[in-house]
Amino acid sequence: MISIKSQKEIELMRVAGDITIRAIEEVGKNIRPGISTKELDKIAHDYIISRGAKPSCLGYEGFPATICTSIDEVVVHGIPREDEILKEGQIISIDCVAAYKGYNGDAARTFAVGKVSEEKQKLIKVTEECFYKALEGLKEGSRLGDIGAAVQKHAEKHGFNSVRVMGGHGIGRHMHEDPFVPMYGTAGTGIKLKAGMTICIEPMIAAGTYDLYLNGWDARTRDARPSAHYENTVLIKEDGVEILTKKLEANNFE
Ligand code: MF3
Ligand code: CO
Repeated sequence: MISIKSQKEIELMRVAGDITIRAIEEVGKNIRPGISTKELDKIAHDYIISRGAKPSCLGYEGFPATICTSIDEVVVHGIPREDEILKEGQIISIDCVAAYKGYNGDAARTFAVGKVSEEKQKLIKVTEECFYKALEGLKEGSRLGDIGAAVQKHAEKHGFNSVRVMGGHGIGRHMHEDPFVPMYGTAGTGIKLKAGMTICIEPMIAAGTYDLYLNGWDARTRDARPSAHYENTVLIKEDGVEILTKKLEANNFE
């Protein structure tokens, strides 16, 4: 079942979104060679708690951390570790979900650790662009397939591939709600979106094959080439969309 959010629920999701994106920002400021992914996790955790919110990933189906830290060929769901130290030249996706008064915000960004290859820089840039391509023209009445088609087309135009077995999802009281939102597909197909739906659009773009394998929680590319991830929680409106995982004015927190 796909839920339609009330104005009151959307208000709470805006605050959750603000907390989520600021937690990622705090982590981003500390990304550098020599820091462990465990230290990054603590930064996000402490920030979320300081805002009176809850880290939704922690304990979710046994996931042991606040953020997912996915380096290079790890596409998503990397677990932060004390003995995993960032090295110059890596790229790392930080995926974070925070709940405020029971409502979730979910976002991800990919950061460069020091100086990275041109291919990795391009991968980060194209992945973000894929997200914004998906928003073009998106509004009530658009179809689910329009989103995936836009992401896939932009990724392939740049010689990259959009991951298939994982995708976006509805979000609200639960971190994962219906519908599943594929990051590839055909425009004009799939269900029609309605105003008040809140979904996560999250391109996971691989430099090589989109084929993955699971190694515990880690989802890795089969060819071990790098991948990037960019995600926001998005509200569908009658006349367009609103990104909910964005910073609110500082005096508008509570
Ligand atoms: N944003 C991620 C997702 O939607 C967060 C899940 S991590 C988990 O898949 F551990 F909580 F599953
Ligand atoms: Co998500």
